[in-house]
Amino acid sequence: MCGIVGYVGYRGAPEILVNGLRKLEYRGYDSAGVAVVFDNEIKIAKTKGKVNNLAERIEKTWSEKLQTKATTGISHTRWATHGEPNEINAHPHLDNDGRTVLVHNGIIENCRALKARLLAEGHTFASETDTEVLAHLVGKYYKTDLIEAVCEALSKVEGTFGIAVLAKDKPDEIVVARKGSPIVIGVGDDETFVASDAAAIVAHTKNVIYLDDGDVAILTAGEVEVRTLENSPISREVSTLEFDADSAEKGEHKHFMHKEIFEQPDALRNAIGGRLDKDKATAILSGLSMSPREMAELRRFIMVACGTSMNAGLVGEYYFEDLADMITDVEQAAEFRYRNPIIGSQDMVLAISQSGETADTLAAIREAKQKGALISGLCNVVGSTIARETGRGVYLHAGPEIGVASTKAFTCQVAVLLMMALKFGRGRRLSRDVGQKLCAAISNIPKYAEETLKLDGQIRDIAKVYAGVEDVFFIGRGYMYPVALEGALKLKEISYIHAEGYHAAELKHGPIALLEPRVPVVALANDVPGKDKTIGNIEECKARNSPVIAVVTGDDPCVDGLADHIIRVPETPDVIAPITVAIALQLFAYHIAEFRGCEIDQPRNLAKSVTVE
Ligand code: AGP
Ligand code: GLU
Repeated sequence: MCGIVGYVGYRGAPEILVNGLRKLEYRGYDSAGVAVVFDNEIKIAKTKGKVNNLAERIEKTWSEKLQTKATTGISHTRWATHGEPNEINAHPHLDNDGRTVLVHNGIIENCRALKARLLAEGHTFASETDTEVLAHLVGKYYKTDLIEAVCEALSKVEGTFGIAVLAKDKPDEIVVARKGSPIVIGVGDDETFVASDAAAIVAHTKNVIYLDDGDVAILTAGEVEVRTLENSPISREVSTLEFDADSAEKGEHKHFMHKEIFEQPDALRNAIGGRLDKDKATAILSGLSMSPREMAELRRFIMVACGTSMNAGLVGEYYFEDLADMITDVEQAAEFRYRNPIIGSQDMVLAISQSGETADTLAAIREAKQKGALISGLCNVVGSTIARETGRGVYLHAGPEIGVASTKAFTCQVAVLLMMALKFGRGRRLSRDVGQKLCAAISNIPKYAEETLKLDGQIRDIAKVYAGVEDVFFIGRGYMYPVALEGALKLKEISYIHAEGYHAAELKHGPIALLEPRVPVVALANDVPGKDKTIGNIEECKARNSPVIAVVTGDDPCVDGLADHIIRVPETPDVIAPITVAIALQLFAYHIAEFRGCEIDQPRNLAKSVTVE
């Protein structure tokens, strides 16, 4: 679930490992640890809390020689699933005899049964983790061949894993494996890296091998040997990482979230660039690999996603219905397979996922595939599991998103969904004239984003007024309804203020009972269909003495004298408004969290990519 970094080469491993873990801090974690093999001994350092604590512990307790001469090691940042976040439960975990040690991302679902059996065999456990059970299994099967022991142990477990394993009598070797939790191997000159996320190794090498589910590999300084879980050789190609080391740095920004909010004009430029064919009045999204005929024959379009990606899908639903004239549904990915989705070969299921690793979304797409639907992906991370499993789809090209709160991925997802709806629409019944207008509107999105960012100072002033509140409602209609959901999600995840997004009409069906002067309402009264009724709902909020922060389009005077604060986003065609308004709400959430002194890039309890169901 959280972070793994491993190194085997000729340099001091501890420093490389700790620096690698720092690059994964954005994913959210509660403890960290390192293990190295040195002088035929396994040395472990673990701490609760931040990677800095771990770095200090190593500095203070490990000899200079150990720090510089141990050249093989594994490390981990943990996001607890089994057992509270403390030093004992932190990884790495040793086997029963202390001969092997491992780090693990994911969950061992049958750990209780396995543990009972091992206890009966005389094993004693130090931690409450599921991971330690796997560590003991590896130790149990380890004789002389580490990969054989790992394969044997993994054949006994149910669940998900990305693991890295060391043995004290194999000082030059790391064994890694994956199922449901990403592992990427970095191939350097006489050194090999492994991580759960390329951000941890991009500073060292851009040559990488992505493991597929069910792969195991032996890493030595000069060689990577991939095998199947049944221990037979398999070949995996080396690919080149697309992002550079700078994109994993904050630069002059105080937080990654701030950097990523302000990167949006460029990110959108990259997401849109080269993808509009103005002559044919359509979008070029070749990764979808669909002929106009296939598009025309589609019966239904279903998007599956979680969190922010689902909110982007909900905006996309309007686009597909309005422009592509297609029956469209958005499904909460986690629930998709617990219903009986009626889908078949004429339906397309699109997984929307920034990370491309979200377990719930992956499970939904697997279910859809099994039922014979066409599956596709809209992912940001190149080479991610969802991107590879779907085989067809579109990459966002938004650049690495490090802040746990998704910002630029959302606006780029919305922009790409608009282009997809344009493409499908043109393949079906959308006129060339409307297509051309849409192409013009889409190509102006980066400019609109730039203009919206100029509101930063004003939004910060408003945020200061409300930084002390404990509840906020966000309301909207039409395109603005999913944006209200997203505004509330952003605010709650980074500021810990209780925030809820509602359809503007739904407020009076219950939540209105909570309105009073301490509960502000952010009302999205933009110039999109439904605006007049939303203004009526603002009146209802004012009548209950709730302060209202209204977002409107340009100079629109519709809430003058009614709202307490007005945020005026640039005038745009209405299909673009979800993007500008979302940016304004990101700034609002960011500044409130900053005034409250929150840990914006690593909010408590959250992980950037949720690889457990
Ligand atoms: C966004 O701010 C959240 N941290 C979260 O809801 C996220 O969007 C969700 O977990 C889905 O992630 P994905 O896009 O990587 O699949
Ligand atoms: N399930 C393991 C634990 O709780 C691993 C969690 C993780 O992925 O960080 O220790």
